[in-house]
Amino acid sequence: MHTILVLGGYGFFGSRIAEGLARRPGLRLLIGGRDSGKARRRAVELGLPYDAALVLDAAGPGLAQALRAARVDTLIHTAGPFQGQDHAVARAAIEAGCNYIDLGDGRDFVAGIRVLDEAARRAGVAVISGASSVPALSSAAIDRYLPAFSRLDEIRIGIASGARSPGLATVRGIFGYCGKPFRRLESGVWKTTHGWLDLDHYDFPAPLGRRWLGSCDVPDLSLFPERYAPVQSVSFQAGFASTPGHLVVWALAAAVKAGVLASMLPFAGPLNRISRWIEPLVSDRGCMFVRLGGLGPDGQPLVKRWHVLAARNHGPYIPCGASIALARRLAAGQRLAPGAYPCMGLLSVDEYLSPLGDLDVHQAGDAL
Ligand SMILES: NC(=O)c1ccc[n+]([C@@H]2O[C@H](COP(=O)([O-])OP(=O)(O)OC[C@H]3O[C@@H](n4cnc5c(N)ncnc54)[C@H](OP(=O)(O)O)[C@@H]3O)[C@@H](O)[C@H]2O)c1
Repeated sequence: MHTILVLGGYGFFGSRIAEGLARRPGLRLLIGGRDSGKARRRAVELGLPYDAALVLDAAGPGLAQALRAARVDTLIHTAGPFQGQDHAVARAAIEAGCNYIDLGDGRDFVAGIRVLDEAARRAGVAVISGASSVPALSSAAIDRYLPAFSRLDEIRIGIASGARSPGLATVRGIFGYCGKPFRRLESGVWKTTHGWLDLDHYDFPAPLGRRWLGSCDVPDLSLFPERYAPVQSVSFQAGFASTPGHLVVWALAAAVKAGVLASMLPFAGPLNRISRWIEPLVSDRGCMFVRLGGLGPDGQPLVKRWHVLAARNHGPYIPCGASIALARRLAAGQRLAPGAYPCMGLLSVDEYLSPLGDLDVHQAGDAL
């Protein structure tokens, strides 16, 4: 039996990850969080035994002992926001001798996981950060097309969400940097931009059409200039399915940039609730794109585009693919290289999306 604990296992993404791991042969699943009632309810919904619910505080003391006591082999950490979080949960996993996978989207958090590399190697465990849309799926899409380029100059990535709003941790993570400055590589120069500003659009494949996008501060902006050197530009943008909703966030981010507001964090809870109420009025379709520009083998300009489209509000399953796929591998007895590293080069696009087989999630992309 391989024991997997999903920390935040009744949260928005954690509950979907738990769904992908429940009732699989050879796998014992535990649901963890600070609220015992919610953890028990989720365990019951998934047909797990009553004692599969664990009350755990990621920020509290004694996490390593609790992991040992529960005989956890692999911990999946979804208890964000990861922006500003330290690596205490990963350290506890190493101390307890269990593998660790997180959904980190904090730029410093994911790139900084490497500080634990030596400790993880010594303990013989894999500590993997960013096992989600960024950087796991974004890098997998780039890796797929990389052989088509003799020189890769530009990486543009974006996500347009569907109606279903994510959990509070996701919204708090994004709102924390809205209107705040951050650096990204543009035409070979590190330039400052601001969260959710630089209003832009992208023409998604039909029936999505044009969606508004704003700049986001994600791990890819730090990791990809190194991984895909000598790439000259790396950007990441995101947008909401509701145009008025997108523009409200854009206006608030502008107020933060102008110094009228200190932070958008106080708006995270209320706007998250409002987006739930208006869900039936908004498109249930979302899409992620990766657009690559550079030179082909003949030295001529080359552009490759890749999309993954979701309908029927199945988009929120996409960020869950990597952690489910990796956890299933570990539960099947496969080993992941010991050490601590961002989730890049571990899964192909097809492997990443394989746990989502029955859902309304489809890839479309240029031929290789
Ligand atoms: N890298 C990517 O591409 C990517 C994509 C999507 C999402 N994410 C990240 O995934 C994270 C989860 O998002 P979500 O929408 O699922 O958020 P959510 O619905 O708010 O879920 C967070 C879960 O963590 C639990 N939690 C929070 N603090 C905790 C603590 N100290 N100890 C134990 N459990 C704790 C919460 O339960 P209690 O509060 O009851 O404890 C809840 O179950 C976010 O940080 C988001 O940014 C990353």
